[in-house]
Amino acid sequence: MTVRVEGRGKVTGAARYPSDIPLDDVAYAYLVTSAIARGTIESFDLDAARAVPGLIEIFTHENLAGAYKTPAGPLGGANTTSLESAKIWHDGQIVAVVVAETYEAAREAAYRVRVAYVEERPSSTFDSPGTETKAACEVDEGHDDPHTGDPERAFAAAAVKVDAWYETPIQHHNAIELFTTSCAWSDDGKLTVYEPSQFVHGLRSRVARQLDMKLEDVRVVSPLVGGGFGGKSSGGHRTALIALASRRIGRPVKLIATRDQGFTIATYRAETRHHVRLGANKEGKLEALIHEGWEITSRPSDYFNGGTDATARLYACPNVGTKVSIVHADRNTPGFMRSPAEFPYVYALECAMNELADELGVDPIELRRRNDATAEAIQNLPYTSRSLMKCFDEAAAAFGWKDRDPRPGSMRDGDWLIGWGCASTMYPANGGASSARVRLHADGSVRIETAAHELGQGTCTALAMIASERLGVGLEKVDVVLGDTNLPPAGLAAGSSHLSSVGPAVSLACERILKRKRDGASGTLEEYAEYFPAGVDRGAVKRIENGIPSIEGGVLDDRAQYAYGAELVEVRVHERTREIRVPRIVGAFAAGRILSPTTAHGQLMGGLIWGLGSALLEKTEIDERAARYVNDNLADYRVAVNADAVRIDVIVVPEEDTQVNALGVKGIGELANTGTAAAIAAAVHHATGKRVRHLPIRIEDLL
Ligand code: MOS
Repeated sequence: MTVRVEGRGKVTGAARYPSDIPLDDVAYAYLVTSAIARGTIESFDLDAARAVPGLIEIFTHENLAGAYKTPAGPLGGANTTSLESAKIWHDGQIVAVVVAETYEAAREAAYRVRVAYVEERPSSTFDSPGTETKAACEVDEGHDDPHTGDPERAFAAAAVKVDAWYETPIQHHNAIELFTTSCAWSDDGKLTVYEPSQFVHGLRSRVARQLDMKLEDVRVVSPLVGGGFGGKSSGGHRTALIALASRRIGRPVKLIATRDQGFTIATYRAETRHHVRLGANKEGKLEALIHEGWEITSRPSDYFNGGTDATARLYACPNVGTKVSIVHADRNTPGFMRSPAEFPYVYALECAMNELADELGVDPIELRRRNDATAEAIQNLPYTSRSLMKCFDEAAAAFGWKDRDPRPGSMRDGDWLIGWGCASTMYPANGGASSARVRLHADGSVRIETAAHELGQGTCTALAMIASERLGVGLEKVDVVLGDTNLPPAGLAAGSSHLSSVGPAVSLACERILKRKRDGASGTLEEYAEYFPAGVDRGAVKRIENGIPSIEGGVLDDRAQYAYGAELVEVRVHERTREIRVPRIVGAFAAGRILSPTTAHGQLMGGLIWGLGSALLEKTEIDERAARYVNDNLADYRVAVNADAVRIDVIVVPEEDTQVNALGVKGIGELANTGTAAAIAAAVHHATGKRVRHLPIRIEDLL
């Protein structure tokens, strides 16, 4: 078993996260955030705050407006603003940055800042008055709603139908590491930013644009990230504000935003709504699949996830219709969160598939088998590999699925009603351009340098394993240095694409070293390599420096590449209290070659546990009158813990894929959490006969 190479540093406390890096003469920042969701700031009363001993300066739009440019949203385009004007876009928007000699003084002064607002009535979510709905293809010229055949007519004519609405809630990443930023300027005007980031070159380019600086005058340092899940991929408003504060006071400034502020100063997963219509013939073959989705976004941003790219291509079906719409409300701008598009959309489709199986009286695994495909449904592109039914076969055997009595409420153990449910999972096999430098020293030690990211997902270990295997040196001889814009550019650590992007670059550099050795070279051998996956041109490494990660996957010109899995769950619902427990989950996944079995297992198991939490626990509650998040802390925002995850079995189904990329690997970081909620919803129905079509499923839904 391979250890986690950065694990020792983490458990001994030697590991340095960005906010742990000591800075001389540092001052501390504390944020003041908006108490209203819509309106304008009328005035500030700062007298009481200024009286706090140790206060250095208070920054508001009154002294910062014009000093920096609005950061774009997660996919570019418009975004909410902070400290640029008196305008309030959402609750919890940054309205002041208080800087003092100590954290405590900054916090004390921040609490004494008084803000007078002119308040307007906010629109908080779906069905609130004043929201504005637009079609995704209307706001994004590049967006195409997948479509084939004549789905409306096929649905109308189908022998067996499901027509249902589903909803997923607001969710926040809640990584254990908070959103932090420290900034320091050199005497010659160069800026160093210490901030946990899933894309250091992206953050650098964004800050340089905001502050009108040259790229080479900004450095971003993020050696380790204490959990990201997408929330540290696009950069928030705070970085430029802390950089400006630091420049104005002539000292380094450190910000550690609080847990509740993290709910509104960063991105999150917005709530979604789905209308799914499935039509099948009597044999259970799909004849129509229509998936319409709605997603909340902020007022100015056109951000959306658009997961019908995935759901239109999961099964064989001659008539497919989809449409994605966005709904503008007075909220902070959402963004990526673990399986951003696939989690909500595949949940909806897989719930509908399970309902269709019940309508047909067909076993839900058998229904997937009857609709398995060798090419995706929209353009008829062949899959590079697809082992979905092999995953179901292995998972079903391990689970004992053949003993399932299909009648709802038919299986029980004392007071506990037992339900068994299943779902497919899928995730695009993505890859992006990346570069890396590898040095083999004369003593046999190796150093890998790349601006890639370790979020806990195993990048360090997997890259070390590649070099160890290629160069024939022990794993303990390999040093992995990551997360710094001074290193060769690597792509965004997102879209489950990181290893399939950075791994081949490291592998190529190792091969070049081996070739030089074979040619007789000795001493220290250093090689730099760039990797470009299919569909990505040679300019892509250069573009990373400009903040463009060039990730491709899912559907390419000539093929479709996805990873698949099957998830089977047992749910127990107490007959009287309606308490819901999940005593076991079996997940079987096929994702090409598995480079690092230990960290892969961790990723897949973690995904299943995340999926369990999303099914039964996770939800950010919103006060609809105030458009304000209510449970913005780890006590009230519930996630799955050890006691919830009783028995989780992960099966890796061997799969060879020679087309997907040079290493034959598919991403796994977001594969496992994609189907779990639908499997649990089906199991709850099997146990109780109650169909719950929203998440999370709670006791009150089963009373
Ligand atoms: Mo992941 S949400 O693509 O960081």
